[in-house]
Amino acid sequence: MTTDQQGRVAVITGASSGIGEATARALVTAGYRVALLARRADRIEELAAELGSDTIAIEADVTDRLSLVAAAKRVQTKLGRAEILINNAGVMLLGPFSSDQREDYRRMIETNLLGAITTTEVFLDQLRDGGGDLVNISSVAGRTARIGNGVYAATKWGMNGWSESLRQELQPDVRVTVVEPGAVATELTSHITHAETKKTTEAWVKDMAIRPEDIAEVIVFALSRPMRMTLNEILVRPTSQPG
Ligand SMILES: NC(=O)c1ccc[n+]([C@@H]2O[C@H](COP(=O)([O-])OP(=O)(O)OC[C@H]3O[C@@H](n4cnc5c(N)ncnc54)[C@H](OP(=O)(O)O)[C@@H]3O)[C@@H](O)[C@H]2O)c1
Repeated sequence: MTTDQQGRVAVITGASSGIGEATARALVTAGYRVALLARRADRIEELAAELGSDTIAIEADVTDRLSLVAAAKRVQTKLGRAEILINNAGVMLLGPFSSDQREDYRRMIETNLLGAITTTEVFLDQLRDGGGDLVNISSVAGRTARIGNGVYAATKWGMNGWSESLRQELQPDVRVTVVEPGAVATELTSHITHAETKKTTEAWVKDMAIRPEDIAEVIVFALSRPMRMTLNEILVRPTSQPG
């Protein structure tokens, strides 16, 4: 860890559980100041109280631009400008492609893809003003698609394409890192609305999933590299994951 990481301000969307929560813990341990964003205010307030005075909790929905604008103002006032944005908020509503799932499709696109895009344009001035890091949490599903994950994969493929464009457009002020986890044990599968898919996915993940802390460590490592270099794309699968 290089010492100039100390005190950098990081904003994490979806910090109320799973990878976002683990990343918040790891960043605070490494000396960062952290803004926790999510819709479940009780969860992030509890986490902020536990992590201490260098952490703030801000209720924000990535599908609601006004809540993000308010969050960006609050970060600037309370912690100083955001130097790091981690677009982590996401939902994975898998199931057979069908009209029955159409609300799931809208929710995934609005949260995973448009939510990340909106959060980034809202925080961009802060990230650029002195340099920063943008970390986009994509997925193995951003590189491979399979039956039943088409729209989720589309959001993550979309995120990868958008990230590569930003990588070129924002350099050298902002480093862009895409992290592509495989199966990680979190609440992600609990929101699947298609009952049969939920059951099979939960069984599949349970057998091999790695821990959210494993991904958090990778993020902290990437951020701690010297600013002259960027880990642009990081694919992290459980060792036993086939696809
Ligand atoms: N777990 C895996 O196997 C895996 C694999 C590859 C990629 N990923 C990606 O990792 C990211 C984190 O997922 P996770 O596995 O940690 O699942 P998780 O525990 O369910 O966390 C998802 C987070 O997203 C937040 N969120 C959802 N909708 C939101 C919205 N509209 N506005 C703001 N926040 C919202 C949730 O907070 P609130 O409900 O409190 O708002 C929650 O904190 C996702 O982008 C996911 O696609 C996960």
